[in-house]
Amino acid sequence: MKGIEENAEKKVVGICGSPKKNNSWWMLQRAVNSIEKNGGTVEIIHLGDYEINWCDGCLTCEETGVCRIKDDMIYLTKKVVASHALMISTPVYFNSIPGKLKCFIDRLNPLLVNDRLNGKKLIVFIVGQLTGKEGEKSRSDVKRFFSALAEICNIDFVGSVEAEGRLSNDLEKNKKVVFQCEELSKKLVMKE
Ligand SMILES: Cc1cc2nc3c(=O)[nH]c(=O)nc-3n(C[C@H](O)[C@H](O)[C@H](O)COP(=O)(O)O)c2cc1C
Repeated sequence: MKGIEENAEKKVVGICGSPKKNNSWWMLQRAVNSIEKNGGTVEIIHLGDYEINWCDGCLTCEETGVCRIKDDMIYLTKKVVASHALMISTPVYFNSIPGKLKCFIDRLNPLLVNDRLNGKKLIVFIVGQLTGKEGEKSRSDVKRFFSALAEICNIDFVGSVEAEGRLSNDLEKNKKVVFQCEELSKKLVMKE
């Protein structure tokens, strides 16, 4: 399929959008076990380890297919292109996503040239601390953002897991979340 490198069949890149290695990180780890058990390979990227400047909106990438900002997105963009599927794990920040994750996503704009995101699969893990209806709404706002993003980029949005949590052991105790992360991530590497 156009946009996917030939040998990228079961290569998954997991992006941790939290500044911490806490709940979002923990959900990614559950997925790693499951993908590896099912024959895939995963590389986890913690955005906190990289220099990612914000998109300055110059739009030259729409002519050239490359970003003129020279930072770690050169390396990260290559990782995304070489993957078959992406997992993004994120905390809810004010019913949205943390700024650095948004910078990362904005800086993928060059990949829309030549349809280099087309056909990739995406799953998303979303964790927030608010409870009840308010919490559900804030997590579903984030889910809607990713579903719209996938549509714009011609990415196959496979699904999401939304969890309520503040401390990492809130999730560890939640068997349903463990199960959901494992089952959803399996879909990235198993034949349909
Ligand atoms: C700036 C900021 C804004 C937040 N906004 C929300 C919110 O709108 N809804 C929510 O449920 N939790 C919100 N939270 C709580 C985090 O989503 C929650 O603590 C989450 O478990 C953190 O995930 P992490 O451990 O992966 O960093 C916010 C936290 C911060 C620091």
